[in-house]
Amino acid sequence: MSHEPVAAPSAWVVRWAPMIRPGGAVLDVACGSGRHARWLAALGFEVDAVDRDATLFPDPPRGVKLLAADLEDGSPWPYAGRRFDGIVVTNYLHRPLLPILVDSLEPGGLLVYETFARGNERFGKPSNPAFLLSPGELLDAVRGRLRVIGYEDLSVQEPRPAAVQRMAARLE
Ligand SMILES: C[S@@+](CC[C@H](N)C(=O)[O-])C[C@H]1O[C@@H](n2cnc3c(N)ncnc32)[C@H](O)[C@@H]1O
Repeated sequence: MSHEPVAAPSAWVVRWAPMIRPGGAVLDVACGSGRHARWLAALGFEVDAVDRDATLFPDPPRGVKLLAADLEDGSPWPYAGRRFDGIVVTNYLHRPLLPILVDSLEPGGLLVYETFARGNERFGKPSNPAFLLSPGELLDAVRGRLRVIGYEDLSVQEPRPAAVQRMAARLE
């Protein structure tokens, strides 16, 4: 049993989760300790959560199906054929997954993405450009496929100083 305090969900995820079909299927990509999977399950969503390190999330609650999978090792996408009402990605970027995530939405489904952007090197890690979105990159990833209903590209102070890009986009 973990005695680590459960980290709070991102304010961006909290803001947009009410736009996901109530009780729908949600995928938490690179879920880490499961702060979003846990919170979304408590709201009544059926959550699939995936991370290459399942030990980070040792006690998934009812309503969360945790999968240990490396999403970057060239293996087939583990949710092939599945469609989700919501997909949540925070603080993780593997660019080849972006079109796969778009393809994995149900009609009406919402992609909620938030991760570090160029400029974050001023604040600390990550500072490797491979892990930093370039200006407009999330918008480019969904252009012509999803309707962007929320987007920000800014520096934040909470939960710690960082440069982030964040987007909520729907498959219509
Ligand atoms: C900064 S943490 C973010 C965790 C969570 N999304 C959050 O915001 O609390 C990045 C996560 O990506 C996972 N990750 C990194 N590379 C991965 C890969 N190749 N396949 C699956 N998960 C990976 C790590 O294990 C880690 O849990």
